[in-house]
Amino acid sequence: MAFDPNTMLRLDGEVALVTGAARGIGAASAALLAAAGAEVLVADLDGAAAEAGAAAIRARGHRAHGLVLDVADDAGVAAAFEAVRERHGRLDVLVNNAGIALRKPTTELPRADWDKVVAVNLTGVFLCAQAAASIMLAGGGGRIVNLASIMGLSGGGLYPNISYQSTKGAVVNMTRALAVEWSKQNIRVNAVAPTWVKTELTRPLFENPELHARLKAVTPMERFPAPDDIAAAVLFLASRASAFVTGHTLAVDSGFLAQ
Ligand SMILES: NC(=O)c1ccc[n+]([C@@H]2O[C@H](COP(=O)([O-])OP(=O)(O)OC[C@H]3O[C@@H](n4cnc5c(N)ncnc54)[C@H](O)[C@@H]3O)[C@@H](O)[C@H]2O)c1
Repeated sequence: MAFDPNTMLRLDGEVALVTGAARGIGAASAALLAAAGAEVLVADLDGAAAEAGAAAIRARGHRAHGLVLDVADDAGVAAAFEAVRERHGRLDVLVNNAGIALRKPTTELPRADWDKVVAVNLTGVFLCAQAAASIMLAGGGGRIVNLASIMGLSGGGLYPNISYQSTKGAVVNMTRALAVEWSKQNIRVNAVAPTWVKTELTRPLFENPELHARLKAVTPMERFPAPDDIAAAVLFLASRASAFVTGHTLAVDSGFLAQ
């Protein structure tokens, strides 16, 4: 048998970097990749929270380090990935997880808000993928997992969020384009598209009883995944269990897109 179910999801000896990893889906992904054996860089805008997240992973007996990283800052991205190259000499997995939402009706959305969301959700994914690939190409390959959203595969509709929908849709196609560009160099690029997951990002939605009920009403399973459920899909796409999957966006959506 070519595959052992006990090892196909293991990342022993590998280095993984997760952006926006101080909380939410990023923190769950960092913890699961570390539990799978990777040495994980918990990267976040909030350096103290990143270090606390790394310490929590180490307390469970796994390997992790905090790293300050603003994905929207080109010089900061370059410096952080250079530090990874110097300290670790390799990068096997990048999870482009950092993301923000500024929900306003389109006619009331200031240009500055649009620019901020584009800078983090789209340019940040590009900058980190570019910096990671320079290390991965020198090391013989790697895997990149981007956090898209069901909002990048549908028009939404329950509340206005044009910059989020636009950037997540772009992430879906960037995933395809980078997968094709690096397909012969052994870098696989995939994305996960979660439905609504209870985190700080979605707190205003879940805390509004009327909106919460409407989210449930448009969700076939009538239940929402936890950050750990999204992390499971991230690990699958980061591991050899998905060796021939590239350019794909995997919905973890309680059936939302199947309707
Ligand atoms: N929660 C959901 O329902 C949901 C659904 C679909 C997709 N997503 C996507 O999953 C990802 C994680 O979402 P979450 O719900 O865990 O969010 P969250 O707000 O709970 O956590 C986001 C983390 O990213 C960090 N961050 C923000 N801007 C950053 C920057 N410029 N550079 C580095 N780090 C930065 C924050 O400090 C925070 O730790 C995002 O890309 C989000 O769009 C979330």
